[in-house]
Amino acid sequence: MKLKKCVLYCLLIGALSVSFTSNAYMAEAVSTATINNVSENLVTYSLDFDASKNYTVESKTINGKVVNYRAYRNIIYVANPKSKAAQSMNIFIPMDYFDNGKINDYTKKTAPIFMPNGVGGYMPGEAGEPQEKDFYGDGANAILVALSNGYVVAAPAIRGRSTIGDDGQAYVGKAPALIVDYKAAVRYLRHNKKQLPAGDTEKIISNGTSAGGALSALLGATGNAKEYEPYLKEIGAANERDDIFASSDYCPITNLEHADMAYEWMFNGVNSYYMATWQLQDLANRGMNIPGDKPGKPAQPPQALNANAANNPTASKQEVQMTQEEITVSNVLKAAFPDYINSLQLKDEQGTLLTLDKEGNGSFRDYIKGKYIQSAQDALNSGLDVSSASWVKVINGKVVDVDLNAYPASATRMKAAPAFDKLDLSSAENDEFGSENNTPKHFSAISKQYESKIGEMADSETIKLMNPMNFIGNGKAVTAKHFRIRHGAIDRDTTLAIPAILALKLQNSGIDVNFYSPWNRGHAGDYDLPELFNWIDSICKTK
Ligand code: DHB
Repeated sequence: MKLKKCVLYCLLIGALSVSFTSNAYMAEAVSTATINNVSENLVTYSLDFDASKNYTVESKTINGKVVNYRAYRNIIYVANPKSKAAQSMNIFIPMDYFDNGKINDYTKKTAPIFMPNGVGGYMPGEAGEPQEKDFYGDGANAILVALSNGYVVAAPAIRGRSTIGDDGQAYVGKAPALIVDYKAAVRYLRHNKKQLPAGDTEKIISNGTSAGGALSALLGATGNAKEYEPYLKEIGAANERDDIFASSDYCPITNLEHADMAYEWMFNGVNSYYMATWQLQDLANRGMNIPGDKPGKPAQPPQALNANAANNPTASKQEVQMTQEEITVSNVLKAAFPDYINSLQLKDEQGTLLTLDKEGNGSFRDYIKGKYIQSAQDALNSGLDVSSASWVKVINGKVVDVDLNAYPASATRMKAAPAFDKLDLSSAENDEFGSENNTPKHFSAISKQYESKIGEMADSETIKLMNPMNFIGNGKAVTAKHFRIRHGAIDRDTTLAIPAILALKLQNSGIDVNFYSPWNRGHAGDYDLPELFNWIDSICKTK
């Protein structure tokens, strides 16, 4: 899946939370209780996996090779789900392991467990399926590639901002529900390590894109952190560890309460923007004002969804001018970023402290420049023409400089300031931090201060639980040993500084990090599956 299918799909069908029943949702124990004078069935689901039942044997073809696997679907992974559909997962196991076979040098005991999430736009993620053609029809998806490489796949559905509980009463997927579910799914696997026919629960590798990339990073950073315990208890998660081995994060929309500053540090001075069509659809679904439309004018239907060359989400062709207020906030946010960077005391690979002066210049900016230079140089070396990128300076086949002041106008701005914590509470992230009755909230101090009349602040504990930065290097969690982080060189859903900060913080804490900005990539994921699985093989096979 090159771009979050769920962002597109879920938004197209509207903010529906699908509630369905199937044979898989068999109650193991049923008791009746009365809550607030409403009689409800309180159902407890077994956390014990039974490998002998409820599976199908299936096959799919990848590069002419048939991959046979057992598929277990819709396994509820918590004892007390708020939404059965959103808290269930699919498990796929290569058939060879049932004959004690080997695939890619893995055995049923050593096979790593690939654990992708399908979250996009902070919407609910569906349980993944192996597919011969991914969303754009140009090759097998990550799950099928994983199976063909001998991995067991555990693909959980996860609650998101539009999930309504099975009781029909409340929005049960607001923060921190997404990470609580991902952790619960990991715990379910560990709880069943003896019952699983194959797969090493000490080799779980998460994967996700965008909001799903943020979630994958968060899972990797927060292993066993006690702060999540009450939420895990509430849904009846297994009493097990939830640390993982490795985390693969494509364009993570993370560190949300600082992402507005980072965005303006890069895009300040570009005073118009082009939204993605999914954002327009999201605003329409939620009855929000569409920027650029006259107040009261009905939302325009978005243009047809199609991918551009860089697998970027389709940008609206409508250029919208920032308001004077947005330009002023942009200046405030840009000015606040250096203090944040300097507070982190990040160091590059040579041990150089990465800082910014008041104007936003300094070694951190040079570091970001270096990432773009490397990306452009690699593109050149592989025979690509980079001359259309006017911000890249090439002399005799060597990229000698990139002009970070020219980059933003060339990449174009996608979000007005503030990019994430909108003053009118209209963003996906405001919705994500919203209340059980679906009232969006602020999550960053600057937006809240700036527009104190509108909206409440999400509670500080919830904000903390959604940011991996709060758990790295301080002994508060077991961090995954390995991270692979990608953020395309023309991605402007968030700015490169955000994944770079995450990568540096991890690296500075002794974690193995593979961080790169691929040339000409927009906001997308899973576009380099051979490299991804080579990387996973390399870390899994190292003794
Ligand atoms: C996603 C993209 C965004 O720009 C954003 O703000 C949140 C989520 C996504 O594609 O998941």
